[in-house]
Amino acid sequence: MSALRSSSLRRRLVIWLLAPLLSLLALDAWLTYHRARQAADAAFDRMLATSARAIAEGVTLRQGGVEVDIPYFALEMFESNANGRVFYRVLQADGKQLTGYEDLPLPNADWPAKPQARFYDIRYRDEALRLVALPCLARDILTLGSARVWVLVAETPESRHQLAQGILLGALRQEGLLVACMLAIVLVGITFALRPLHGLSQRMAERGEDDLSPLDAGALPREIRPLVAGFNQYTSRLQRMLAARRRFFADAAHQLKTPLAVMQAQLELAQRETDPAQRRKQQSLALATLKQASHGVEQLLSLSRLEPDSGHSVTLESVDLPALARDGALEWAVVAHQRQVDLGFDDSTAAAPCLIEGHPMLLQELAGNLVDNAIRYAGGRDGAQVTVRVGCDDCPWLEVEDNGPGIPPEEREKVFQRFYRLRGNTVAGTGLGLAIVREIARLHGAEVSLRPTRGGGLTVRVMFPPTGG
Ligand SMILES: Nc1ncnc2c1ncn2[C@@H]1O[C@H](COP(=O)(O)OP(=O)(O)OP(=O)(O)O)[C@@H](O)[C@H]1O
Ligand SMILES: [Mg+2]
Repeated sequence: MSALRSSSLRRRLVIWLLAPLLSLLALDAWLTYHRARQAADAAFDRMLATSARAIAEGVTLRQGGVEVDIPYFALEMFESNANGRVFYRVLQADGKQLTGYEDLPLPNADWPAKPQARFYDIRYRDEALRLVALPCLARDILTLGSARVWVLVAETPESRHQLAQGILLGALRQEGLLVACMLAIVLVGITFALRPLHGLSQRMAERGEDDLSPLDAGALPREIRPLVAGFNQYTSRLQRMLAARRRFFADAAHQLKTPLAVMQAQLELAQRETDPAQRRKQQSLALATLKQASHGVEQLLSLSRLEPDSGHSVTLESVDLPALARDGALEWAVVAHQRQVDLGFDDSTAAAPCLIEGHPMLLQELAGNLVDNAIRYAGGRDGAQVTVRVGCDDCPWLEVEDNGPGIPPEEREKVFQRFYRLRGNTVAGTGLGLAIVREIARLHGAEVSLRPTRGGGLTVRVMFPPTGG
């Protein structure tokens, strides 16, 4: 079976066609032999009956005694039967032997109402025989008397078998020829039918290494089109993945180019600096640039992993949203304190369970980006406040509210674009945080919306799909 699985399509087709064809041929041969046996039996039974009747013609009653004169043509049949042997016997109904083989048995000696020939399969001298028993009345034309006489003729079955086998062999030869012709036709047919496949593999072999353009399935047979459609889908997915990779490398190079140049200048300056205080200042500036560059690369990596064509898959699990938000807020408490921001947490789920289907690490990243933005853009002002809020109304939601400068309405959609930052932004950043937030939300089937905080500032809400419980 494994050989069949790995073998060529042509061989498979031939095997699948040949196996049932040969089975049908075997069945047909069996039926033919059966029919031939029946026909041979009928023909030879007729011959037996004819010779019995010919013998019966020569049975006469004369002066009270039965005489048998076997005509020549009755014996002629025996001679023509070269392959088998024929036995005959003529006896009176009372059992008196008249002529022939004395021990040839008469299976049923009852005298029939109608003088009809009866046929029997018997065993005689350890051989199977076909026997005909013909009852006849020998009449005396002078006295008009009559005597009951049995004429028995039997033969061995070789001739019947030979005839049936001859018919079978003739039929087999004819059918074998037919199968050979059909096989040849099928092989030619398969060769023609497989031509489009050869053409397709040739076209694929001739493609350039980086050619990911779709294949034209129009001229191909209907059966191959799904394969080509699958291939085209695969290449277009591959194309998108490669484009995403290329974009990532280009972005990473762009992100690193400036900070690396700046860092080099800062470190060279520090090296030349003779004043230790000035040197430390240049070094810490270079360190800040390095941190910024590494933050940029981290953001870029996060985003590239989250994009639909990244090839990464995400498995969601049951996550306790209020607990996750509380932990997230706690993690940011130190940073908030450093930037003199009053960071609060408000859980309006009334301690009722608020579970969502999510990825804990990605949700931490989402909340982290929102809290980071709020602290960074609202921080540094007097009375800066940031509140992380969770609720579970019709849908579970997470909100980060600040009282910073906010985002003008016309910019609220644009800030989700990669690398987009508000003009005049003095705070360091890569412009990728909100793009990451939107991708993580998309993976969770959630919606992100921005709205102004009452009295100034920005409130970002992430609305998760209803969990049904
Ligand atoms: N809470 C906020 N208040 C005011 N402006 C904001 C706030 N959050 C984001 N913005 C504006 O939207 C822009 C995009 O934000 P995003 O988080 O995508 O990038 P980033 O903060 O500049 O960089 P990154 O988060 O990748 O370090 C920011 O540059 C900022 O101008
Ligand atoms: Mg940000």
